[in-house]
Formats: sequence, structure tokens, C-alpha cells
Amino acid sequence: MVQEAVFRIEGLRKSFGPNQVLGGVDLELRAGVITVLMGANGAGKSTLVRIVSGVYDRDAGRITLAGQVFSPSSPAEAIRAGVVTVHQNINDGVVADLDVATNLTLDRLNGRGAPLVFNPRRVRREAAAVAARMGLSIDLTARISDLSLADRQMVAIARAMAHEPKVLILDEPTSSLSSAEAERLFQVVERLRARGVAILYISHRMSDIRRLADTIVSLRDGRISGIFEDQPLDYEGAVNAMLGKKISAGDISVRAATAPVLHAANLQLTPTSRPFSLTLGGGEVVAITGLVGVGKTALAETLFGVRAPVSGGMTLDGADYAPRSTRQAIERGVFLVAKDRGENGIVPGFNIYENISLPFLKRISNFGITSRRSERDLARTQIASLGVVCRSERDEMSTLSGGNQQKVMVGRWLTQASRVLILDEPFQGVDISARRDLAAKLRASAIGRATLVFVTELDEAFEIADRILVMSEHTLVGEHRNADINVDKLLAEIAGQHQMVG
Ligand SMILES: Nc1ncnc2c1ncn2[C@@H]1O[C@H](COP(=O)(O)OP(=O)(O)OP(=O)(O)O)[C@@H](O)[C@H]1O
Ligand SMILES: [Mg+2]
Repeated sequence: MVQEAVFRIEGLRKSFGPNQVLGGVDLELRAGVITVLMGANGAGKSTLVRIVSGVYDRDAGRITLAGQVFSPSSPAEAIRAGVVTVHQNINDGVVADLDVATNLTLDRLNGRGAPLVFNPRRVRREAAAVAARMGLSIDLTARISDLSLADRQMVAIARAMAHEPKVLILDEPTSSLSSAEAERLFQVVERLRARGVAILYISHRMSDIRRLADTIVSLRDGRISGIFEDQPLDYEGAVNAMLGKKISAGDISVRAATAPVLHAANLQLTPTSRPFSLTLGGGEVVAITGLVGVGKTALAETLFGVRAPVSGGMTLDGADYAPRSTRQAIERGVFLVAKDRGENGIVPGFNIYENISLPFLKRISNFGITSRRSERDLARTQIASLGVVCRSERDEMSTLSGGNQQKVMVGRWLTQASRVLILDEPFQGVDISARRDLAAKLRASAIGRATLVFVTELDEAFEIADRILVMSEHTLVGEHRNADINVDKLLAEIAGQHQMVG
């Protein structure tokens, strides 16, 4: 039985200046159905979401909710009508200066339940109920600004869930969640589906899509390019429809390292973890994988001079290397592409070229005067090479789509030669085709430096690395050459069921 559409979008159009982003989109959401919207970076997914959630105006088109015209003039109005959204930029979903409890009850404070305002006990009680429904175990008195990005994202999602939505829209909700947190989110989403909520789910992660999709709609350049409803779902067809081409296989030819570039001996990351040694050679790409919280970021930060190891030492090109600041690391040619670009990388109000040259201003400036020309040239080269969707290098960073911001973040560190390039979750929010391209670019430029990539998703490790190392409990527990890998052994190591070696 085919359900009536609860939510119907017809002929939706939107342009930013001369740039047409949505060229007449029709989309239907049905009660109790999860519709996955797939589209390459810059296809217009978040723009569509911002229109239906009352953030942006549309140029043309008609939207109906349960048969009634739906035309929200503000996010609050959309929420009151039962259309609830978790945005891609999660800072749009939480207020950093307030505590968790207040954030979870914020929309009621604003609305009719105004007496809540001066009753902190009741706020706490309501918030606890909301948190429990989500299975959220976060200190309700903590300030949002003190939480990790993943926790903040969970609060933004819980806040959205607190509304008893009729239509729920999730724009890349898992991009910075661990697999355990993503699993909790999936269960909540499935519960809402069972209760008859119409759900629109946007993601670049195939594992999310396979887990949740009842229907897939592909968007290409602001138009629907495919609808997939027949079971079993045609995932490959959906990817081809979103790209307008068949995707290239991510096969790589594994290379051996030339001379060692960075060597870490008996490195101990925490007082209780086992020391380990690590050598990164010239020309090779090494991926380190492992669950969230096993010490990947701690290792990245140790290599980049953000923190010091408990014990052990490092050498770079044979000379002692003990950076006490990121500046010292950069001066020695050790660069880090940090994860969570919104937190650690971009300045939204700066334009693309200013964002790219930010860490290198000292290097590219002459007698303290930055050469605007060389800044812009560097930026243009990276935009072309990484396929950043934008009008020019003068575009403000905040006007780029999420995945394109990510490409700029990576491109920044490719503008200058490095000895060791470290990338922490470089593929966050990058579409599958751009991910293959980015991996190929990193491999093609890898000669002459050592490249270390931290990834949680195994597919990403397979697509980029010559060697794959596994981390567990803040130490290295496995090593694999990326050819004829014993996947069972690899998975067991990730799960922490390894034999202690060395
Ligand atoms: N406020 C804005 N001003 C100008 N251009 C914008 C603005 N917001 C979005 N755009 C442009 O609209 C296009 C679509 O962006 P959108 O964020 O909708 O893409 P997306 O499909 O969500 O991509 P991603 O997968 O990378 O998140 C991009 O080219 C982007 O630069
Ligand atoms: Mg987006």
C-alpha cells in the first residue's frame, strides 16, 4: 500500500545572485518512511533543507504539509508546524553559552510554555526526560561550549526530537559521530519512523544509507535525477544518478616507502597505555584506523606539537623532533589537517584565499606585507585541482557547501611542501566521487613527504593507504599492507581482540 505524501515540495527554485542552486525540485515525503536524499557536494541539499525549515526564502515553488500550504517565515514557525530540522552545521542547532538542560528545552521556553523560564528545577526535569528518550548520557549542567563536537551534535539532535515532529529532516547528522553514537541515533530515527514520522535523511555515508533508506532520491545540480523505491534498493544506480556518471573504482597500486622521514620510538600517549614505535617513510601513505576514543587524535596532536608524549621520543629526517607548539611543528614541515573543520579549521567570514593562507602568512609575506597576488594564485590552483564548487577564490567560506569547505581545508595544507602531512578525518562530509579524487590527489602528491591519515571508516583506509595500522587503547595493535588484507584479523584488532605483540 502506498502512503499518501504528508509533505510535498513542487517546483522549488532558489538562486544566489546569478547562481541557480535549485532548478525546480519536486519531492514527496511519506509518513513512516525514511527518504534518503543523495547528492554530490554543492548539489543543493542543504539549501533545500534551509528553505523548508524557514531559514531561507524560496524564489518559487509550493510546499504542502498534510494538504495545507506550508510557508514558514522563520525556523520557529516551521518547528511549531511540526517540521523539525537538524542542520549540517550543528552550531545552528545549539546555543553555545547555555547549559545542556536549557538547550534541550529551549524551544518550549520560547513558546507557549514561558513559565518554564524562571523554574530551573522544571527545566532540569523536562530536559532529563528529553535526554532519557534519546538515551543521551551527558551532564545536563555542562555548558555547550565545553562539550565535544559529537556531544554537541547529540544535544542538537535531542533538541529536535523533543518536538514530536511530523516531519524530521536530518542533514548529515553522523559526520562527526562515533559508530556507537551513530547507532543510538539510528535507533531513535527508527522509533520515529515506526510512530509514523516522515523522515528526510541526508548523508554521504553508504553505511548510514544502507541501514536506513526506504527510498532514495538523487539530486544532481539542483534537479532530481533519480527516484529509487523498488526493493532491494539500487544503491549503485542512486550513486550514478547523483553523479551523472559511473564512479571510478578506488583501486590503488600499493607503493613501498623510501627512506624513513619520521620515527617515533617507545612513544607513550597516556600514563597507562603501552608504548609503541612508528616509522613513516617518504612517499608512502599510512592510514591509522580504530574506534573513536582509542587515541587517534592524541597521536595526531603529539606529532603536531599540541601535546607532549608521556615518554618516548621522535626524530624527523634523523634529527630530534620534540615540537612544543604547532608553530614549531609547521616550521619543521609537519602539517595537520584537523578534523571538524567548523571547530578547528575555517574562519567562516574570511574568503577562500584568506582561509587557505592563514597558517602560512609569515611564509608568503614579504617584509610583513602579504602578497595578495600570491595568496590568490595559491588558492586558484587548489580550487582547480580539488574541484571546489565556487564562483571564485574571493567567495566567503560560509557560502560554500559543507563538502567544498572540507576540500578547501585539505587544499590549504597542499599549497606548501611538507615533510609529514597528517590528516585527521579528511573525508568528513565529502561525497563519494570527490573522496576518490581527493585520495588520488593526496597519493599523487605523496612523493617527497610522509603522509599519515586518521580515519574511522575502513573503506576510506582501503582507498588511500599503502599501509594500514590499527589503534586500540592508545597504542598500535596491528599493521597491514594494503594488498590481500586479512579483513577478519583487521576487524578483530579494531574491536580490541588482538594478541598483544612486541
Ligand atoms: N548563502 C549563500 N550564498 C551564496 N551561495 C550559496 C549560499 N548557500 C549555498 N550557496 C551555494 O549553493 C550551492 C549548494 O550548496 P548546498 O550547501 O546546498 O550544497 P549541499 O548539497 O548541501 O553540499 P554538501 O554535500 O557539500 O553539504 C553551492 O554552490 C553553494 O556555494
Ligand atoms: Mg550540505
